[in-house]
Amino acid sequence: MSLRRAKISIVGAGNVGATCAHWCAAAELGDVVLLDIPQTEDMPRGKALDLMQASPIMGFDSNVIGTNSYDDVAGSDVIVVTAGIPRKPGMSRDDLLNTNARIVTAVGTEIKNCAPDAIVIVVSNPLDAMVQQMWKVTGFPPERVCGQAGVLDTARYRTFLAMELGVSVEDISALLMGGHGDTMVPIPSCTSVGGIPITQLISSERLEEIVDRTRKGGAEIVQLLKTGSAYYAPAAACAQMVEAIVRDKKRVIPAAAYCDSQYNVGGYYVGVPVVMGSGGIEKVIELDLTEKEQGDFRRSVEAVKSLVATMDGLLSS
Ligand code: LMR
Repeated sequence: MSLRRAKISIVGAGNVGATCAHWCAAAELGDVVLLDIPQTEDMPRGKALDLMQASPIMGFDSNVIGTNSYDDVAGSDVIVVTAGIPRKPGMSRDDLLNTNARIVTAVGTEIKNCAPDAIVIVVSNPLDAMVQQMWKVTGFPPERVCGQAGVLDTARYRTFLAMELGVSVEDISALLMGGHGDTMVPIPSCTSVGGIPITQLISSERLEEIVDRTRKGGAEIVQLLKTGSAYYAPAAACAQMVEAIVRDKKRVIPAAAYCDSQYNVGGYYVGVPVVMGSGGIEKVIELDLTEKEQGDFRRSVEAVKSLVATMDGLLSS
């Protein structure tokens, strides 16, 4: 018998990375490697050991190690990249472009060398441009590189809808597409509560307010935390994607996926509904969008393209 646990590496042992490690271990998704840069010294080892010591209490058997060396990442099945700096109040995600593009380039180069068969989930911001850069640097097939924001944005939207209606979050199905930013596109025809179309339960004005809050959901948390950005929900989004891969769940979820002919995007990463399983992004699901949704999606894609062009300019200068 050659059963073995999946190997999940998490690059960046800050709040998002450590919380993601916690949830992956607690759900016994596999053994976890928590890596941070050498300058953080023993910190990743400390967090990993602390997490291991929770395992008898919580009852999980994942092995968790902390490290500063990519040697420990070798042979990973899935790698979650949380590396990069978070924004502070008053900053946009795009303000992180220059710094995080360089960090993601360095991380991608290491991943390419040490784990050439891994599936990579990018969390670093600005998300869509960072996934594009990760794909470019690793040279991996596009289905093995993706970004987590669609799950996060849709979870925020579902949370706000459940709060508004006073119902269980479990009964809210919803979909947002486009880039992870102010241009994200709600799809009302794919939003329902226990099977009832959302438009029968909420006025279009109120729905627009909730969409607006969702678009600014990351900034709302940054404003409240003051010292960094959200981590519980981003880490939970990653854990759901890791689970889809290591358990070959074939989840239908929104993710930043490479689209070429799909939606006529032309070779960029952007948020779309996908089927996610052991092959990574196994399929991009193409919806018939209304004229308004198409227009909004197109604008969102243009915003992503222009950010990628800016990034390419910065990296080549
Ligand atoms: C989020 O949406 O919470 C993340 O993208 C972090 C941020 O800066 O908003």
